Amino acid sequence: MTAKITALRVPQPESFTFLPESIQQAQAIIARYPQGMQQSALMPLLSLAQAQCGNWLPKAAMDYVAAMLNMPPVRVYEVASFYTMYNLEPVGKHVIEVCTTTPCWLSGSEAIVQACEKRLGITLGETTADGEFTLREVECLGACVNAPMAQVISSPRGTQYFYEDLTPERITGVIDAFTEGRQPKPGPQSGRKSSEPAT
Ligand code: FES
Repeated sequence: MTAKITALRVPQPESFTFLPESIQQAQAIIARYPQGMQQSALMPLLSLAQAQCGNWLPKAAMDYVAAMLNMPPVRVYEVASFYTMYNLEPVGKHVIEVCTTTPCWLSGSEAIVQACEKRLGITLGETTADGEFTLREVECLGACVNAPMAQVISSPRGTQYFYEDLTPERITGVIDAFTEGRQPKPGPQSGRKSSEPAT
């Protein structure tokens, strides 16, 4: 979390406001919650703000959401700095998140991380010089049965795709496809359907 708080020191835009369509979406999200519980809309509103900002959350955007939900900004910073899904500094066009929690680790996630580092020429937590890729490790993303796996989050809208049953060659192929502007087919890369038995 320390690294994320430090990220608040990156150059920040002076102000932030939701675009008209984002305001409509925000109002629809807030309306889902009972009277007096509107602050429960915090996380989806942060996601909305992050998507509008090109997949990162400037301080001005967090302050704007805090004001919209009538809550102290520090409570918004606490949430945004806790969850890896929020980026407190600009990230690459594609963020590759390799799961390294126990089931993925036992299935070879270290080799997946090494393959990413080798292909991209960066280490965990870094962004390529051309701004195309950010690489990081995350905790379990809930696809353990198809371990090892990685998630790729692409700007500008922050769309998320899971790539499962990875090998070093397969994740390298996924990165190659994104580099060439193609969208590799998400899901198991082994050919099996969903989480059916590998045999
Ligand atoms: S441990 Fe990797 S998805 Fe659950």
